[in-house]
Amino acid sequence: TWVAACGAREVLLAEPRSFCAGVDRAIATVERALERHGPPVYVRRQIVHNGHVVADLERRGAVFVREVDEVPPGSVVVLAAHGVAPAVRAAASARRLAVVDATCPLVAKVHAGVRRQAERDATVFLIGHADHEEVEGTLGEAPERVVVVGSVAEAEAVSAPDPHRVASAVQTTLALDEAESIAAVLRRRFPALVEPRSADICYATTNRQAAVRAVAAEADRLVVVGSPNSSNSVRLVEVAARAGADARRVDHADELDLAWLAGAPRVAVTAGASAPDRLVDGVVDLLRGLGPVTVTPRSATTEDVRFTLPKEVS
Ligand code: F3S
Repeated sequence: TWVAACGAREVLLAEPRSFCAGVDRAIATVERALERHGPPVYVRRQIVHNGHVVADLERRGAVFVREVDEVPPGSVVVLAAHGVAPAVRAAASARRLAVVDATCPLVAKVHAGVRRQAERDATVFLIGHADHEEVEGTLGEAPERVVVVGSVAEAEAVSAPDPHRVASAVQTTLALDEAESIAAVLRRRFPALVEPRSADICYATTNRQAAVRAVAAEADRLVVVGSPNSSNSVRLVEVAARAGADARRVDHADELDLAWLAGAPRVAVTAGASAPDRLVDGVVDLLRGLGPVTVTPRSATTEDVRFTLPKEVS
């Protein structure tokens, strides 16, 4: 039969996956702002790095802009989860905007660490990707003091005006192994390096990467659901690949390559912190359409982190 030809499939559902506490809070913030003020509520940049989340909020009256100068004076503007440079807040207040700050508290913590180091005149090596919006915001805390370090090669090449006054900070969504190899080079080259008091890579990134590693070896294929500009989703694919998995990222089940899935009895599925879990359901449904499926959750750890809403909407 057709089913026999396709064979039974086991889907390994990696846990934790999908929304983190910072993303939950950011989305709830826009929803609350819409309830309180009615549409339109302006949002600077994608509230979280997922096209489906953005489209959904747009339908409900959120208007996404690139910069605060596109927002009519006096309106409500929500700042996205990945944080902003202080210059953005200044521009918003100059425009008399009512700012609702949905910056993830764990990103805000990294900003505070950078500020603290900049105040003691340290050069701060920010381990991260220069083109990512989070890094843009963190760098904005002290543009003249922060140097973005994106690779081991860059870590070997960077310099500081005073090599005895140096510190590091890390983008919250990096791959742990990659960030550690960069940090190791900085530590060797700058013995005075002051590192963050507690890890900058957040719990959600850490747990999602651990969950992916836990299923990578057994999976014939590994699907990461997440948008292309979602740093933590892209990192999940890389972490899975380094752990030996044949891994790909899709924004939606529609993007899955059926030829790639053919003849793969075990498919692991996960999602980045900004990807709604309903998109994971969509992937599982698509696999069900190909033949019999048993779903096996594989939990690396449980999460109970919750953040309260920003005071402006709580
Ligand atoms: Fe915050 Fe980490 Fe999520 S920094 S937004 S909890 S991925």
